[in-house]
This record gives sequence, C-alpha cells and structure tokens, in this order.
Amino acid sequence: MLKEIQNRRSIRNYLTDEIKKEEVLDLLQAGIIAPSAKNNQPWRFVIVSKGIKNKISDKMVELAGPNKTAEVIKTVPYLILVYNKDNEYFNHLSIGAAIENILLEATNRGLGTLWIGYIKKIEDYVKELVDIDYELVSAIAIGIKNEEPISRPRLNLEEVLIYRD
Ligand SMILES: Cc1cc2nc3c(=O)[nH]c(=O)nc-3n(C[C@H](O)[C@H](O)[C@H](O)COP(=O)(O)O)c2cc1C
Repeated sequence: MLKEIQNRRSIRNYLTDEIKKEEVLDLLQAGIIAPSAKNNQPWRFVIVSKGIKNKISDKMVELAGPNKTAEVIKTVPYLILVYNKDNEYFNHLSIGAAIENILLEATNRGLGTLWIGYIKKIEDYVKELVDIDYELVSAIAIGIKNEEPISRPRLNLEEVLIYRD
C-alpha cells in the first residue's frame, strides 16, 4: 500500500509556523488532477487569509463553545475552503477525491492537514464573509504538525465486505 495512505492522519495540534504559499499551490495541483464524473472538475478553492480565518474560528466557538476544530482553524497558516460549482449528481464524490489527493500530497511532504466538514454548519456566515456563491462543501486546514497521532481504529475488512455468489 502507498505509505501516504497508511501514514495520513487528521492533525489537530499545530505549530504557528508559516508555510510557503507555493507549497499550498502544489497541494492544490494534486487536488485538481483527481478523477471527476465526466471530467467536469466541479471543485473550486478559496485560500483564506488570517482575518477571515479568525472570524470563522470565532463563529464556531460562538456556536459550539471552545472546540478543537475552531482552535485548529485559528492556529494553522492556511485554510482552504472547498466549493462545488454546480449541483450535478456526482460532484460531491469528485470533490471528495480531490480533497483526498490534497491530504495525501500533504502527507508526502510531511505537512499536517485536517478535513473540516463542520464548516457546513456556518455556511451562511462564511458566504457573507467570503462573498462566494458556490456551495461550500468542506474546508482543509494545512499547517506544521505538532503531534504524531497513532492510527485511529478502523473496521476490519471482514466487517465491511460481503461476498455474493
Ligand atoms: C467529510 C469529513 C468531514 C470531517 N470533518 C471534521 C471536522 O469538522 N472536524 C474534525 O476535527 N475532523 C473532521 N474530520 C476528520 C475525521 O474525524 C477523521 O478523518 C476520522 O476521525 C479518522 O481519523 P484519521 O483521519 O486520523 O484517520 C472529517 C473527515 C471527513 C472525511
């Protein structure tokens, strides 16, 4: 198995160190070569600056109280908002493939990432803030890791696989 698939983890503790913007663009290059239904490439990305990042984090705390996801968003140098350009049936699957490509390339470079679905809860707020009219699908936090988590538990293959004759 590819070592990036085995070694990728959700990282929830980061240093405040910066990352070069070119490196983030390289990760997005990995994202945009993902497969997509009819090759329609429905993903759109917004890199948000510190001001917007902090407002998003504050809003999450306002809604849910202090939480790890909000803390991650505040600490990392980069937050990527991931959007869906229209509502074709398979778009979310294609966008999931693009996000995984980004996470795996980040793993390959020793960078930490966190896939943040919880951003959906404040979609309206983010829309006001960022002024983008596409559907918000997820966010990806990217930064320098300050932890090396052990792998989280998974079901065994036998628990998720059914044979039919
Ligand atoms: C669609 C999706 C949404 C997620 N949203 C969040 C989130 O909002 N906050 C968070 O801390 N982790 C989030 N995660 C990360 C999962 O909790 C994590 O992938 C899972 O617990 C397995 O851990 P691992 O990624 O380290 O293998 C999300 C993952 C996926 C695939």
